[in-house]
Amino acid sequence: MTVHGHSPPTRPGDEPRGLAPIRRWLRRGPFHGWQREHAGLRRSVAQTRSDVVAVVKRLDRKEAPSRAARRGRKRLEALEHALAAHFAAEEGEGHLEQALQMAPRFANQAERLRRDHGNLMREIRELRELARNAGHDREAWVVVYRSYDSFAEKLELHDQAENEIMTRAVLEDIGPGD
Ligand SMILES: [Fe+2]
Repeated sequence: MTVHGHSPPTRPGDEPRGLAPIRRWLRRGPFHGWQREHAGLRRSVAQTRSDVVAVVKRLDRKEAPSRAARRGRKRLEALEHALAAHFAAEEGEGHLEQALQMAPRFANQAERLRRDHGNLMREIRELRELARNAGHDREAWVVVYRSYDSFAEKLELHDQAENEIMTRAVLEDIGPGD
């Protein structure tokens, strides 16, 4: 059996033991680029967090935060652009649709995830505005940090749910005894 031109990790009559062969196959499989993008986004999210924390730390030490604040704002802007491109690619290249063809029962969950995109974009835009208006005010940057933390958690859960759909789609497509 093949999925979109990719072969599963099994030989006929040879069931995979555990998830390791499936994980290996996913790394080469139809959703490889999608998973790699999620990993890249996770790194950008972590980097943005540490840049925002750096601003608060400078303000704690009563040091001028100009450069750190500029970097934090730029990082938020870059993350906003990266997310816009990522969501557009997900919707445009139809990764979720492809997964749903393989596992139609996730249709409702996928629809909810698609709606998340708009909300997450709104939040990151608001965050960028907050950071732009925060100046050198410590409390304002603490608000940026807290809002960012809550945004990053939602984004992480969102991406995990998408990863879960693509993994399950592949598993269902392989199917028991297929
Ligand atoms: Fe995603």
